[in-house]
Amino acid sequence: MEEVYRSYYTKSDSIVSYMLQKLSVGEGMTVFEPCAGDGVFIDRLNDMEFGVSIDAYELNPKAVELLKEKYRDNKNIKITHSDMLTNDTLLVFSNMGRGYDRIIANPPYGGWIDYDRRKQLKRLYPVLYVKETYTLFLYLCVQLLRDKGILVFIIPDTFLNLHMHIGLRRFLLTNTKIGEICLFPSSFFPNVNFGYSNLCIITLQRCHKEKECLDNDFKVITGFRNVTELGNLNQFPVRHHRAFSFKQREIYENFDSALFVSENPKITDLINNCAVRVGDIADCVTGFYSGNDKKHLRPISENIKNAKKYRLIDKSQICYDYLLRENILEGITDSNYFVSIVKGGGIKYFKPDLWYMDWSVESVKGYKASKRARFQNSKYYFKYGIGVPMVSSTQITAALIENKLFDQSIVGIFPENRGLVYYLLAFFNSSTCNRLIRTINPSANNPSNYIKKIPFILPSDNDLKEINRLTQGIVCALKEGKEYPESYEQILNELVEKVYGF
Ligand SMILES: C[S@@+](CC[C@H](N)C(=O)[O-])C[C@H]1O[C@@H](n2cnc3c(N)ncnc32)[C@H](O)[C@@H]1O
Repeated sequence: MEEVYRSYYTKSDSIVSYMLQKLSVGEGMTVFEPCAGDGVFIDRLNDMEFGVSIDAYELNPKAVELLKEKYRDNKNIKITHSDMLTNDTLLVFSNMGRGYDRIIANPPYGGWIDYDRRKQLKRLYPVLYVKETYTLFLYLCVQLLRDKGILVFIIPDTFLNLHMHIGLRRFLLTNTKIGEICLFPSSFFPNVNFGYSNLCIITLQRCHKEKECLDNDFKVITGFRNVTELGNLNQFPVRHHRAFSFKQREIYENFDSALFVSENPKITDLINNCAVRVGDIADCVTGFYSGNDKKHLRPISENIKNAKKYRLIDKSQICYDYLLRENILEGITDSNYFVSIVKGGGIKYFKPDLWYMDWSVESVKGYKASKRARFQNSKYYFKYGIGVPMVSSTQITAALIENKLFDQSIVGIFPENRGLVYYLLAFFNSSTCNRLIRTINPSANNPSNYIKKIPFILPSDNDLKEINRLTQGIVCALKEGKEYPESYEQILNELVEKVYGF
């Protein structure tokens, strides 16, 4: 396997069998394999009792050599050594409206693409996010299909809901009829274990009539326990996996035209149809970066996580009354010019002051001028709200930002109605919020764009009062250096669940 070509070969009989079954190949058909590798799909196609004509591309010269040798005596198999994404013949062919009967692939994904290549790809695929190659393979291959031609791809599932793939989603929803999407963990795929997403196998049919595409219903199947279940889908009718049905028009009209799949239909329903979202009641913004934290950032103690490489704060330099200063966004003129900053890290409810940022007039001027620094969303600095770390491994967390600076690893959430801060604090630490955000974005990331999409439901006055009381109890306990009663958190979880009706 060579890293540069992202060659994760499909070494799983169950996966290959399922994909071939979905491809429904017939006698005399033309089949395209855009990135052949060692020819796992070609072998199966070639073993069929009837004849098909196979056109295969591959970029890696070593793999091409082996393929040419392997299929030397097969006149029906043509191997081309080329970059499939920029090949002129294919690009022209895709505009001619002819096309292959069938296309099957396990395209490369997740690799680094250098800047020149990105520019070249952006010119060729202006509506797509070109830092991820698998989406480009999918897009071009759909255009290489004849009308009613079928395509089966095994790819990451990020194109289904990430904001940057909206162009591809809309293209698929209006140019193809999706048949089935099977979602499963990447660990099903031998030798692949990437944390950032799951894998899926998508089967779709090219369709030139937009209305027919939008009226099409398709199935999403999830909940597989192992890869064998995938290969024997029909023998395991409903036991482990679950099938969900969607109309393409509904997905197209969804928020961001994204597909949200959840075991609990109430969750997807709410995500798609709620009247109010977090972004409607609060500003959600990323915070500050000095451009050179080694120089400007100070921890209070070397025992804090990741503190070793920084100089410790000299406490006489801490400014406590910065809120009283005029023009705080211009910096502090006195000798005590360090201000508390809230950083990432999965701490719930309240983060003590552990880090300080150089906020001298001179440094602030420097931040504003520097290309490396991020003096972004500054009108929210030193305001009252909550902070959610951009990355959370298992459970999303939130802590108060009490009129402090917050850094770029945090999304600051500042509700217009300040009376909602404690409720939002309880909500963002709840399992309900976790289920919602992980349905909206199944990866471990919580950028502000996704946080804004989370449905917001205002509790009844009584529930709000109770939520505020319990949250305040937790915050007070933490401020006094005590552990907070776990029962409070449990009740809060239940109350939020009740408000959301899950
Ligand atoms: C994930 S592997 C899959 C190989 C094979 N189809 C399989 O399923 O085992 C992807 C293959 O795409 C090839 N590849 C990468 N970029 C390519 C490109 N731009 N054009 C054609 N092939 C490419 C790699 O060399 C690699 O063999």
